[in-house]
Amino acid sequence: MAEREARPDPTDGLPAMPVGDWTVQKHELLKLYIEISRGVRGKFIGNGKAGATFIDLYCGAGRAYINGTNTFIDGSPLVGWKASRDCRTPFTQIHINDSDTELLDAAHQRLAQSGAPVIKHGGDVLAVTQNLTANLNPDALHFALLDPFNLILPFEVIRCLATLKRIDLLIHVSAMDLQRNWARYTQQTNSPLDQFAPGWRDAVDTAQPEERARLQFVQYWADSLKKLGFADETRFELITGTKNQPLYWLVLVAKHEIAQKFWKTAAQHGKTRQMF
Ligand SMILES: C[S@@+](CC[C@H](N)C(=O)[O-])C[C@H]1O[C@@H](n2cnc3c(N)ncnc32)[C@H](O)[C@@H]1O
Repeated sequence: MAEREARPDPTDGLPAMPVGDWTVQKHELLKLYIEISRGVRGKFIGNGKAGATFIDLYCGAGRAYINGTNTFIDGSPLVGWKASRDCRTPFTQIHINDSDTELLDAAHQRLAQSGAPVIKHGGDVLAVTQNLTANLNPDALHFALLDPFNLILPFEVIRCLATLKRIDLLIHVSAMDLQRNWARYTQQTNSPLDQFAPGWRDAVDTAQPEERARLQFVQYWADSLKKLGFADETRFELITGTKNQPLYWLVLVAKHEIAQKFWKTAAQHGKTRQMF
């Protein structure tokens, strides 16, 4: 059975959460994307430039261990920061948020120890996002990772981030949650699906075979993103488990088409499968 408890990381004594081994692939793709996009990021870094931020709204503790092992790995905020630093185009600000204050504090401490220009938030994710977008430099280049458990990501968070002129989003969409809980969610009047993709009930035919209905739901969500001013192409990369079962998609949504080229290259290196 999967472990659920935090363990202290022997390297720093701070908490680390258990993760499935497929998390390594997610971090590899994140790292590759940040490396591949370094040329564009570099144009925003330096004296008198607007800056390049990394926004990790569901950041976790910054370190994790692989379930059932003693292998400890960096979490997304550290993976993102180190990737940018190591390819000499370091993010000029790293904004982190998590609803669990112990994990958020651990991530903050770890990033600060690594020399990252980290800014810690905390609280309701939508309120944090509204406050952030109001205060970020509108001319900077922004990259946000939205990596919640399950389909708990409110569409309003994306709508708010979309008000930024230059922003790319990397979004974790849980295929497993959708598959396991579709029947239950469709029967609830206010389910996570209603937060994730408001208006879906008028667009998706739930009477059709379930697999087709789920696909239509995801397509509806992708179409809703385009209405927020993102480029037409939205790439879904599927991450599978050890038995090849679908776990989640990593979806890149961007204001500028070049971001999709970078993501395609990252995915080719990471050997994932595309959905659409
Ligand atoms: C999948 S984990 C993040 C892992 C991290 N991105 C990484 O790759 O290392 C999801 C995180 O979301 C946090 N979380 C859950 N609900 C949240 C909410 N409503 N707002 C902010 N964080 C939330 C959890 O505490 C957890 O740390």
